[in-house]
Amino acid sequence: MSSQSESFDVAVVGGGPIGLACAWKAEERGARVVVIDAGEPGAWHVAAGMLAPTSEVDFGEHAQLQLGLESARRYEAFCDALEEPGYRRVGTLCVARDRDEAEALDRLAEFRRGLGLPVERLRPSQARRLEPALAPTVRLALDIASDHSVDPRMLVAALRRKVTHIWDAARATALKVEGDRVTGVITPEGTVLADQVVVATGVDSARLGMPDAARVPVRPVKGQVLRLRDPAGPGLVERTIRGADAYFVPRGDGRYVLGATMEERGWDVQPTAGGVYELLRDLSELVPGIFELEIEELIAGLRPATPDNLPAIGPGTLDGLVWATGHFRNGILLTPVTADLVAGVLAGESLPDWAQPANPQRFAGVTA
Ligand code: GLY
Repeated sequence: MSSQSESFDVAVVGGGPIGLACAWKAEERGARVVVIDAGEPGAWHVAAGMLAPTSEVDFGEHAQLQLGLESARRYEAFCDALEEPGYRRVGTLCVARDRDEAEALDRLAEFRRGLGLPVERLRPSQARRLEPALAPTVRLALDIASDHSVDPRMLVAALRRKVTHIWDAARATALKVEGDRVTGVITPEGTVLADQVVVATGVDSARLGMPDAARVPVRPVKGQVLRLRDPAGPGLVERTIRGADAYFVPRGDGRYVLGATMEERGWDVQPTAGGVYELLRDLSELVPGIFELEIEELIAGLRPATPDNLPAIGPGTLDGLVWATGHFRNGILLTPVTADLVAGVLAGESLPDWAQPANPQRFAGVTA
């Protein structure tokens, strides 16, 4: 695919799960869509794929929770329509390793139950009956059966099979803007003309050329992750295990993802000894058996964070510009709801009231 001659109803910049899902859902509504993908995997390639609106919600995060629950509710049907997306319906255990963490976890349990969320408090012996690999020293666990997981790499492969036009290895450098309207996407190989453009490039949205006043401020937050494999096969743990500072997500086939650091280090994606040490130390206090696992991969990625940690989903300040970025810690979870909202906006619908906290217009005039 190349150059000026190509014209589409919609160009989606970014071939991660969010861009692909937006393209798929827009195509389902009859639009002629192209995805422009630089071919350098984004945060999704590093992500563990926790679908955990309940385990992740903290005090004051009602807007994140609402979006997360809306998306989690859609996930099963979303994945049913995909071939082999790597969806697992196993739950999550949030685990405390000492008295301070147990008190904090109890406060969170009360907060979450107050919001009507399904959280079951387990004594250590009950938790160890569910997951015998938990350390004998754990103090408390919360069973959150409704928080599942998906394999983001399988999800992307499955979504790619759903999209008709993908322009691979094409780096979008800037939006093509005429007056107050976006009319296409500029790449070194040529310009793709489109009536509407969806920016779904995660943290790379910050490097896409466009007028400053149109920009949604996004900054990188580094996360380091270890991908581990049990030579003995599956079974060390069945559920996702979350501690205060680390999580451990089983793929169900003897592979696990141990994550993740939270580091404000600009565009640096170099894994570090300190990051690995912290992850192994924190998780081994909950699941000592991880020391037997083999290291398959050590990798770091950049979460796209906005100033209020909420995503930007919906129309921008330029006509024809639609945002689907800034998903911070929740890009995989929020993929289905983002795709549905964006497909609606592209078809001329307004954002529903419950999605207004994600309205990109809140950043009009704000710089990164
Ligand atoms: N949602 C997990 C993370 O961002 O590390």
